[in-house]
Amino acid sequence: MTLYDAACKVRENAYAPYSGFKVGAALRTATGAVFTGCNVENVAYPEGTCAEAGAIAAMCAAGAREIAEMLVVADSPSPVPPCGGCRQKIAEFAGPEMRITLANLGGARLEMTVAELLPGAFGAGHMDKT
Ligand code: THU
Repeated sequence: MTLYDAACKVRENAYAPYSGFKVGAALRTATGAVFTGCNVENVAYPEGTCAEAGAIAAMCAAGAREIAEMLVVADSPSPVPPCGGCRQKIAEFAGPEMRITLANLGGARLEMTVAELLPGAFGAGHMDKT
């Protein structure tokens, strides 16, 4: 199954009663394992948890720590961009050259690297005092 098909499939399970905006994400690790996530909202924090964060949480829960490839899809007019918080979460588990595909249900796609998604990323090196 392609990452696009996996993301579309998990998107169907999104719980988005407040925004009505369902998102699906799928990632592949260096060893070829695929993990998926959908957005899950709640009444206290209607933005809830993003699809990308769900896929990353599933990867971590399985003991994997390195994203090799990722795709996010929604029924948006143009390829759906990850929110700011998700960009930082993706950067935590991927190198700057990792490619992420933004997609919509209509077939539009935009491929970006992590470095393009989060230029000037904050990293552990910024906490060095020496
Ligand atoms: N959302 C995602 O799941 N991923 C994104 O990259 C953008 C936004 C979700 C969060 C919320 O459930 C809904 O879309 C509207 O913001």
